[in-house]
Amino acid sequence: MESWVITIDGPAGAGKSTVARMLAERLGAVFLDTGAMYRALTAAAMDKGVNLEDAEALLKIFETTRFQFEHDGQVLRVLVDGKDYTQRIRLPEVTEKVRYAACQPAVRRRLVQMQQDFARQFPKVVTEGRDQGTVVFPNARWKFFLEADVMERARRRQKDLAQSGLVVGLDELREQIESRDASDRNRTVGPLTPAPDAVVVDTTSLTVQQVVETILRTIGKNADGGI
Ligand code: DC
Repeated sequence: MESWVITIDGPAGAGKSTVARMLAERLGAVFLDTGAMYRALTAAAMDKGVNLEDAEALLKIFETTRFQFEHDGQVLRVLVDGKDYTQRIRLPEVTEKVRYAACQPAVRRRLVQMQQDFARQFPKVVTEGRDQGTVVFPNARWKFFLEADVMERARRRQKDLAQSGLVVGLDELREQIESRDASDRNRTVGPLTPAPDAVVVDTTSLTVQQVVETILRTIGKNADGGI
């Protein structure tokens, strides 16, 4: 059955989080950042000394750890066993390792279930990730896939990191993004790919505001009076 869900998928740095958050605010919907879930699991595993390549051990973490994702105005607060992990999950060391959890089929099944359970609690959801339109919400009413030139994505990442006081070179960031893209695109489960019915938006030369407006226009055109 078609549900009031907007999915926004795309590669790292395409602007998904900011766009999804603004869109959710404009539409009175709840925003789901699924990358934060993969990141929180990875950070918890690292802190507990769990081998990231051991799927069984990763799954056990779900049984022994409490994950909370709370909205605090514009900020998504992430708590792991009550400890604030909001900043920690964005650190480069976590970004670099998140691919291990993301390529484990059993871990993905578990997180997909959590994402679907989450969405069922709310009448309207804007969700972002890599597999939201393809795997998690195949019946979503509206699907978008954001893309952007890799250098532009590296520049955006550099700006984000600078806000947390981290200085990283553009070439290094471009290489990291390309490596993560390859891993996201080539995994066998939930790979990064547009759903056949997704609208693809190239955000390279668009502001966040312009992307949000583009999506709202598309929804307006296709909506059956729902908005
Ligand atoms: O969007 P992000 O950078 O926070 O995502 C971090 C990683 O999590 C990304 O490299 C791949 C993984 N991920 C995923 O596999 N599926 C999702 N739905 C969301 C994120």
